[in-house]
Amino acid sequence: MNMMNPDISLSKEIPEDDTRRQYYYIEKAKEYVRKESEEIGRPLTFCVTTFGCQMNARDSEKLRGILEKIGYQEAPEETADFVIYNTCTVRENANTRVYGRLGQLKPRKKENPHMRIGLCGCMMQEPEVVEKLKKSYRFVDIIFGTHNIFKFAELITERYETGKMVVDIWKDTDKIVEDLPNDRKYFFKSGVNIMFGCNNFCSYCIVPYVRGRERSRDPQAIISEIRKLVADGVVEVMLLGQNVNSYGKNLEHPMTFAKLLQEIEKIEGLERIRFMTSHPKDLSDELIEVMGQSKKICKHLHLPVQSGSTRILQKMNRRYTKEQYLELVAKIRKAVPDISLTTDIIVGFPGETEEDFQETLDIVRKVRYDSAFTFIYSRRTGTPAAAMPDQIPENVVKDRFDRLLKEVQTIASEVCAVHEGTVQTALIEGVSEHDSSMVTGRLSNNLLVHLKGSKELIGQLIPVQLTECKGFYYLGEMAE
Ligand code: SAH
Ligand code: SF4
Ligand code: F3S
Repeated sequence: MNMMNPDISLSKEIPEDDTRRQYYYIEKAKEYVRKESEEIGRPLTFCVTTFGCQMNARDSEKLRGILEKIGYQEAPEETADFVIYNTCTVRENANTRVYGRLGQLKPRKKENPHMRIGLCGCMMQEPEVVEKLKKSYRFVDIIFGTHNIFKFAELITERYETGKMVVDIWKDTDKIVEDLPNDRKYFFKSGVNIMFGCNNFCSYCIVPYVRGRERSRDPQAIISEIRKLVADGVVEVMLLGQNVNSYGKNLEHPMTFAKLLQEIEKIEGLERIRFMTSHPKDLSDELIEVMGQSKKICKHLHLPVQSGSTRILQKMNRRYTKEQYLELVAKIRKAVPDISLTTDIIVGFPGETEEDFQETLDIVRKVRYDSAFTFIYSRRTGTPAAAMPDQIPENVVKDRFDRLLKEVQTIASEVCAVHEGTVQTALIEGVSEHDSSMVTGRLSNNLLVHLKGSKELIGQLIPVQLTECKGFYYLGEMAE
């Protein structure tokens, strides 16, 4: 059966199988949307705004796919009838932003009787958030979480049928529902979920609480999704998971991430493979070897270190020491000499002393990252770190953060410059935002290059001479 167009009839019973059931609700919602559009004499429009990580970005593509299937058309947020915020809660400021944006939507909803507001994603998995919304944000129409995104059409139907606020949050799930529609942002590259959830419980992190236990997708489902994507024009995939290195451990027939990569590598027509995120504690020698031999895996590894102090790493429950991390980096660089390394660092974890912070600066100087995301520690209710003594005063954290950022940026611009003059393959991703006579391409090592060219090049892999390093990106020209 072709799942993209399963034969579904509204006059028959609601199917039991999850995928078929959702196609039933897609048909049903489509009817309601058609009627409403006819009434107002124009199509209904939607806008999905994503907060947070690539996992959320991928989920948003699924929401867009469903909305388009039921007859909504995409529009800018300012004019959209249906505004959906796919939220993140990894740091407090992500939450604050959502409340702010919601406040701005309220008057618009009063003016437009066809307006709907949907909230989903990680923030909705926090019971306090949902309580607050139910109490003080009654104008929201649909609230759902991270585990039941696939039910979107069913929830829209329920909203039409009850006329009331629909709230559906699951605490956890073991379900993985395959083969639903999705609308990709780029025709030539795509994210592919390989696993969901996280079991690591780093002591500062809320993700395991809002994304549930770790579940790996069946390798055959992953391979067949990628084959379809390639047939559809995709040349680069980004394999997504909170900790891809522990892929496959809980499958009925366990399989390592390295083995999965080897299987994906065999897919003809696929040119590039990326993945994120790798947890240092689970990065195996097997994976390093596979990366060293691969022709398709990109020369880039995002390897979050979080802190350079072994004492803090232990309190963070990261389960590696500074020395182990450095050894791992040495091993990777030996197997893949020109690999670009990037990382995440948290400053101001409870109990972090100036000495601990110096250890972080030291590891940054030793590894010399191509780039690093630096974060100020954010206290997340319910995590072990939130209850730890010695929360660091704001001014101390801010000072450390500034010093770290400076170090990271100085090193990154030096590291970036080493490729100047070389010829590398770039995947052209779009017309340059600053100059419409130029296009922007991404190198295997994840750096961007801007070169003369027009939109016909988008989606193509072309050799580019990197003529000038501009700190964090390159200027280049097409090479012969
Ligand atoms: N699963 C990935 C990353 C998930 S969140 C991993 O383990 O690497 C992305 C980044 O947000 C983390 O790497 C961490 O640096 C940061 N982060 C997570 N919780 C945080 C918190 N409470 N305060 C500040 N930064 C945090
Ligand atoms: Fe959070 Fe740690 Fe899981 Fe990453 S590995 S999502 S930082 S708990
Ligand atoms: Fe945020 Fe959820 Fe990703 S909390 S970082 S969107 S997994």
